[in-house]
Amino acid sequence: MDYHSRLILPSLLASDWSKVGEEVRRAESAGARWLHLDVMDGNFVDNISFGPQMVQVVRKQTQMFLDVHLMIHRADHYLERFLKAGADNITIHVEADYDSSVAETLKRIRAAGKQCGIALHPHTPFEAALPYVKDIDLLLVMTVVPGFGGQPFMEKETMPKLAAARDYRDANGLSYHLEVDGGIYTSTAPIAQRNGANLFVCGTSSFGPPDMKGAMAELAAAVA
Ligand code: DX5
Ligand code: ZN
Repeated sequence: MDYHSRLILPSLLASDWSKVGEEVRRAESAGARWLHLDVMDGNFVDNISFGPQMVQVVRKQTQMFLDVHLMIHRADHYLERFLKAGADNITIHVEADYDSSVAETLKRIRAAGKQCGIALHPHTPFEAALPYVKDIDLLLVMTVVPGFGGQPFMEKETMPKLAAARDYRDANGLSYHLEVDGGIYTSTAPIAQRNGANLFVCGTSSFGPPDMKGAMAELAAAVA
């Protein structure tokens, strides 16, 4: 699948964790092909979510592509555990600390035969991703300050960067996906799509409504 395909990715963070297996299956029945998993360490971001064990639990419930977003320091230290748990893509933040380096971590993800991504905090410029753009499958432009679901879309701060990332990719024959994450609804998804996004992470707007299939279809129609 290349960046011309547009996908809605439910974010597990917004699901009902008292029945997480059912929620994963609900997402799959609603038409999701990729599922987004937010790993938070209470240090890189001001919230703690879950770790590799949850990824493993989800892996056992579904064949969906598991898109793991690591909002943690020392992603390289924890990497093997997420690979072993069944992640299909692992996205790491340029702003985090590493025992080795961002480049080395990306190399290790690819060496394991998995996809890799770089994530940018809303206040980090696109230039911070430049050293890595040739070696990634996906660039995640955070559209909220990472850490919590349900925050408003930061259009002014992030859309020029998204457009710059698209223009750079297209001018340089690169092929990374452009993913947006945070505050994505039928109202904001088209704005991100016009600026280059093709992967739309939706927490509240996908798992929130009782009719997830209907909600996913409306989100997909909004970016069609
Ligand atoms: C934010 C997370 C998001 C979050 C999005 O730190 O990375 O994936 O789940 O949630 P909504 O869609 O509710 O803004
Ligand atoms: Zn995320």
